Amino acid sequence: MSAQHTAVVGAGTMGNGIAHVLALHGYDVALIDVDADRLDAATATIAENLDRQIEKETIAPAAKNAALDRISTATDTAAGVLEAELVVEAVPEEQELKAEVFGTLDRHAPDDALLASNTSSISITWIGAQTERPSQVIGMHFFNPVPVMGLVEVVRGQRTSDATFATVETVAGALDKTAVEVEDYPGFVSNRVLMPMINEAIFCVMEGVAEPEDIDTVMTLGMNHPMGPLTLADFIGLDVCLDILEVMHEDLGDDKYRPCPLLRRKVTAGELGRKTGQGFFSYE
Ligand SMILES: NC(=O)c1ccc[n+]([C@@H]2O[C@H](COP(=O)([O-])OP(=O)(O)OC[C@H]3O[C@@H](n4cnc5c(N)ncnc54)[C@H](O)[C@@H]3O)[C@@H](O)[C@H]2O)c1
Repeated sequence: MSAQHTAVVGAGTMGNGIAHVLALHGYDVALIDVDADRLDAATATIAENLDRQIEKETIAPAAKNAALDRISTATDTAAGVLEAELVVEAVPEEQELKAEVFGTLDRHAPDDALLASNTSSISITWIGAQTERPSQVIGMHFFNPVPVMGLVEVVRGQRTSDATFATVETVAGALDKTAVEVEDYPGFVSNRVLMPMINEAIFCVMEGVAEPEDIDTVMTLGMNHPMGPLTLADFIGLDVCLDILEVMHEDLGDDKYRPCPLLRRKVTAGELGRKTGQGFFSYE
């Protein structure tokens, strides 16, 4: 199956990036969001990011309009997915919402359409079980910013078929991304490895082992990480880090994933990182 016709549900941070790379690589994309303003903002962001790629000479100038012409927008999910061969869902990380959206996709997308989720932490097996087609449900976990980052974790749920996996792996390759096959366990590989490191860096702050700047310096200069764990946590959003740690703590049942009390305190105080101007560091 070629999956020429795609749909992306949710036009926020991740959805606009996913629509961008699909359209740039020749796929038709129906970009869907319940909020028409988010659709306008997403289209503007995609145009700006394509301009940036033209300036950096990573794409030809003509590629911009060709990509934008392949994107249509819709506020009605049921109507937007009627012709889709592959749907990528990128709505907020709430289990009830994912269930509702996958119910709609299952009822209205063609019977042979594949349904992928960009979820960071919700079980693909569980999402598949919300549909009548669990063998066609899979995780496509992209990374932010999508046009820049070269990885997709392709997550196999308990009932995901080999054919579904093969098609999605092919699509990821066609987007110039490296697809890594991962099994459906909480946090997949990326967050399973990353979040305990971030959490431990926060414990170091809480226990006064070192100042935040110095903890990041140890990891950038000593371990050659491009960004320190606290800068990265501020970039991801401290609320998002807390949510992911809570899911891993509960679902894996191991206290090594318990969120640091300082992380909780900062989230409670509304210090969520870059997006609020204050996290472990201040942003003007
Ligand atoms: N932000 C990241 O760095 C990142 C990285 C990897 C994966 N993810 C995952 O990607 C998903 C989306 O995250 P995001 O950061 O892009 O969120 P976001 O809040 O930026 O965007 C979500 C969009 O979904 C729309 N939406 C809400 N309900 C909808 C519905 N019923 N139908 C259609 N659209 C609806 C919202 O209007 C919004 O525009 C989440 O599952 C998240 O865990 C996020």
